[in-house]
Amino acid sequence: MPITFSDLPYAADALEPHISARTLEFHHGKHHKAYVEKLNAAISGSRYDDWPIEDIIAAAHKASEVGVFNNAAQAWNHSFLWNSMTPNGRDQPTGPLADSIKECFDDLPGFRTSFKRSALKQFGSGWTWLVASAAGLDIVNTNNAESPLIHGVTPLLTLDVWEHAYYLDFQNKRDAYIDAFVNNLINWDFAEKNFEAYRLAA
Ligand code: FE2
Repeated sequence: MPITFSDLPYAADALEPHISARTLEFHHGKHHKAYVEKLNAAISGSRYDDWPIEDIIAAAHKASEVGVFNNAAQAWNHSFLWNSMTPNGRDQPTGPLADSIKECFDDLPGFRTSFKRSALKQFGSGWTWLVASAAGLDIVNTNNAESPLIHGVTPLLTLDVWEHAYYLDFQNKRDAYIDAFVNNLINWDFAEKNFEAYRLAA
């Protein structure tokens, strides 16, 4: 059974004025879709047929199957990205995630500053993530398609810093795109749900 290309969890114009419908139509409808289609073409009839995508990512990485890994990781990363944003987000987290953010970044502005600094310093294409591990919360970057799943940490939120994610709206101003995310778009419900699952499994 092929990997599913899912609809956005909101309307294409739902994140305006921060991210335009035109950006999401290209980013989701062209870029994300192409990763899923290329992945399905690559795994059809292979040992990966019917595997969960997380298992494909891990196995293809281990086997250095670059094409399968890149398309599987990009398919997964983009699904995670759409859920990391929401048009109706709360302005701050609550519960254990709020406590851990305070512990690891001093306060919410400290988290925003650290996330922005990390996303700005990514050279070229990649992703910035809030992750959880036994060491606590951390912000990490990954290059190109790379996913934190292969590093044994649990992603809670992500931001795509490939130029295709922001160029139509912000041109080269990656800092304004990052500001829009950290100040207006974070889906704290999603991050809290991911953190809760991590804590239950830890
Ligand atoms: Fe992207």
